[in-house]
Amino acid sequence: MSSSEEFQEILNGDKNSSRFKAASILQGIAQALGEHDFVKISSAQISGVSVYNLGPEGVSYLKDFAVGTKVRVKTTLNPGAFDIENPPNHIPESEVASQKEINAIYGSMGVSLTLTCSPYLSGNLPLYQEHLAWSESSAVTFANSVCGARTNRESGMSALCSAVCGFTVSGGLHMDENRQPGVTIRLSDEIDDPLYYGLLGVYAGRNFPGLIPLFDIPSRAGINEMQALSASIITWGGASMFHIFHQTPEWNAYQIPTKQATLTRKDLDDLKRELSDDLGDHQKIITFTGCPHRSAGDSIGLSEGKSSGFITAAPALSGPYSPVIMAGGCVAVSKLKPLVTGIITDSVKAAFYLRNRGYKVKLVFSSEIKNNFCPNGEY
Ligand code: F3S
Repeated sequence: MSSSEEFQEILNGDKNSSRFKAASILQGIAQALGEHDFVKISSAQISGVSVYNLGPEGVSYLKDFAVGTKVRVKTTLNPGAFDIENPPNHIPESEVASQKEINAIYGSMGVSLTLTCSPYLSGNLPLYQEHLAWSESSAVTFANSVCGARTNRESGMSALCSAVCGFTVSGGLHMDENRQPGVTIRLSDEIDDPLYYGLLGVYAGRNFPGLIPLFDIPSRAGINEMQALSASIITWGGASMFHIFHQTPEWNAYQIPTKQATLTRKDLDDLKRELSDDLGDHQKIITFTGCPHRSAGDSIGLSEGKSSGFITAAPALSGPYSPVIMAGGCVAVSKLKPLVTGIITDSVKAAFYLRNRGYKVKLVFSSEIKNNFCPNGEY
């Protein structure tokens, strides 16, 4: 029996079951997209966790949806708005209670409360060619590009429905033909900092929106570099997938694109300057790293510095350094201290969202971030 036939069996089954309800929502999405097929998934990852994104109506809907509902595949959860174990003083108790309630609702459905946008570092590492229903943009791009797994960028709700059914709508990046790169981007110089990879993603997203790039880079990208590129490319208008010559699993599975572009390290330095605000004499500046959530080793390395800025990381990877770690939180959806006006970060994704919220943002290299932690940097 094909996956689509198995999916149809759910729709032919008990109409009062949560599986039927979830499958009906997925069928509606498929119809809107003009898709007819469904594929079995091995895991789901759910965004839409922040109390500020969901709001009271979202929480109420989620609560109703959760009654009698259990996920059927490994399912992990995105970060919430802040660290619920150590919430900042300026967050009202009602918002802390609401965020805890949201987390508990997901937990009641069997969702693993990893609270991270880097689930591949916290027990949800997909295998090559596995089909997934993931929703956080940087995680989706990492899964497709670095792991060679297959997922479209789902909404929080469609990922949850897939988790409950065990299927997702086919098409898009589930299909070979849609994973073909559309442009080759050559970098003529070596680069040695995750921020450069973030800037590379900005360049690709801005100049070739929607096209999957095949990067030709004369340096090896480690996990932090892959994370930075995964987060930036989709934020800045690009596809939720990239290839890198000799470095990502599908780099030679498709034709080399005829469309080409070349850039230098200086072009990326210029881009860094362009995307950095002058913080001037802003009175309240904080330094932040961990977008996407960092690996354990990084968090510990930074925490040992004399830092009073902050880091976001998965609770499971936060180590014993909680005073400077916003465990399970996300700066883009967090409520920072009211007087904060300027932010120093090594993440172009964080810069994008924080600037949209009215903050001045200065980009620094990851290798410099410890030097920029400032004395009054509590968030
Ligand atoms: Fe993660 Fe939030 Fe950045 S979800 S990728 S820390 S914007």
